[in-house]
Amino acid sequence: MTTAPVKKVPIHLQSSQNRLLIKNGQVVNFDGIEEADVYIEDGIIKQVGRNLIIPGGTRTIDATRKLVMPGGIDPHTHFELEMMGAKTADDFYKGTRAAVAGGTTTVIDFVLPNKGQSLIEAYNNWREKADNKVCCDYGLHVGVTWWSPSVKKEMQQLVAEHGVNSFKVFMAYKDTWMLDDYELCQVFETCAELKALPQVHAENGHIIARNTEKLLAAGVTTPEGHELSRDEEVEAEAVNRACVIANQMNAPLYIVHMMSKSAVDALRNARLRQRRAIIGETLAATVGTDGMHYTNACFRHAAAHVLSPPLRPDPDTPEAIIKALAEDDLQLIGSDNCTFTEKDKEKGKDDFTKIPNGVNGVEDRMAILWQKAVNTGMMDPCRFVAVTSATAARVFNLWPAKGCVAVGSDADVVVWDPQLERTISAAAHHHATDFNIFEGTRVVGSPQYVIVNGRVCLDDGELRVAEGLGKFLPTPANCPYLYDGKPPLSPQGSPRYASESPQNSPARVTNGNTPTELHLVNKQLDGLSVSGCSTPTGRKMREPGQRNLQNSTFSISKEVEGLDTKTSVRVRNPPGGKSSGLW
Ligand code: URP
Ligand code: ZN
Ligand code: ZN
Repeated sequence: MTTAPVKKVPIHLQSSQNRLLIKNGQVVNFDGIEEADVYIEDGIIKQVGRNLIIPGGTRTIDATRKLVMPGGIDPHTHFELEMMGAKTADDFYKGTRAAVAGGTTTVIDFVLPNKGQSLIEAYNNWREKADNKVCCDYGLHVGVTWWSPSVKKEMQQLVAEHGVNSFKVFMAYKDTWMLDDYELCQVFETCAELKALPQVHAENGHIIARNTEKLLAAGVTTPEGHELSRDEEVEAEAVNRACVIANQMNAPLYIVHMMSKSAVDALRNARLRQRRAIIGETLAATVGTDGMHYTNACFRHAAAHVLSPPLRPDPDTPEAIIKALAEDDLQLIGSDNCTFTEKDKEKGKDDFTKIPNGVNGVEDRMAILWQKAVNTGMMDPCRFVAVTSATAARVFNLWPAKGCVAVGSDADVVVWDPQLERTISAAAHHHATDFNIFEGTRVVGSPQYVIVNGRVCLDDGELRVAEGLGKFLPTPANCPYLYDGKPPLSPQGSPRYASESPQNSPARVTNGNTPTELHLVNKQLDGLSVSGCSTPTGRKMREPGQRNLQNSTFSISKEVEGLDTKTSVRVRNPPGGKSSGLW
């Protein structure tokens, strides 16, 4: 494989803290919870269970009353991205440092070439920016922002030689990154040939352009114009169109940053007829805040919330999106972390179309979802692990090295304290910006320890990341989760990262299937709702809608809104009162 610069790992990182025991915790995987200790050696999980035999001198972390979960995987970040005449504030060091602080131990960033630029040249630029800075492992998606036979050839090379298995196309950003439908057909078809995964930014760029002209002509220049130019219907139309194109090209599809109820409805309908898996991603921003901020009289405040697709003013949106995530209408949650400074956002002071698009989220994604979904009883911890980690690992072919706490997996582990209480604020966050879209949100539940490749990088709340500790993760194509119709192999004895599987891509997998069966195909691929199947960690899958908290006394307590604004305190009783379990 020919790739960009090979990085040297400093000696002190190779030798320190190579043995670690996490004791007395409840290990949460996407398919179950068990009371077990976890022994880590040389960056790999070596044993999971009780009464383990451990070498002397091993550091022990006591995880009593804590959850031991796979480190988060954020499938959607933009570090050191230049867009709309500005550069994101978070680079690969500060961005991954913020990720680790919040419990995320793998990120997947987007290489976004300019129109006409070689995809491989852009990819090499990204590797150069990232390799020596990342504090955790990372992978890369590549944007296809223009089309020609040479682009197709480079897509083949990226898959064959550079460890890329996903390509993002844009149906918006007319005049910069947008492709037309014919080009989308060709990209999706090429992805299907390469057994790669097409990803789509679904918004109708032509409608946005026309609406924008009308709004500006009418004198609407404030950030409110951003959402007005691209309402829910504009997103839902593109979701539907992308699904139709993918279906016609017999390609699976991953829809990034789904922001509205209408878009989720369009996805739900498409699922009934789709031949291949469709994966829906939403964002921490959608779950943790809303589009009412666009009408805030303060430009700085309103502009800080501008991203595309936008947050929705409909106040029911966050709850509907969480419900969709919990019920598997959406499969995972990313951050789309794309932070710009106040100065850069100011570019759009007199014209909302010039506000660089993007918000924070990589640090707070997990705590926000925990607070809004688990503490409210809408989601159990297993599903939390699925949508924040395991499903991303499976979709991008990183499973079972990533996304689970199991023997043989990478030691990317979070010790999650469900009683740790703090209030999110820009003053305390680790981003390179001074605004946080979740400012003032009180969360109960956050990481106490974060272990990255066996190294304790958040140590009882103290952040000790190492710049350059992370490595590039090649993501092989032909992911069994997408192209086999079967869940991937078990962690034990299976190849790490590169799960080779038999080619299985009939032109039409729909033959003889009813729409309901097709929906089931998608549900099976999503891997969480079919009873009786064994799962990649060898456990039985849950019945639809049923919690599987075997061996566990874990109890999800009601959220209580309080006025405490301390950054980080441990609550004596669980939110909502005492219960017999973990508390
Ligand atoms: O507003 C956003 N989402 N900025 C990042 C670029 C993209 O479209 O993902
Ligand atoms: Zn996008
Ligand atoms: Zn993005």
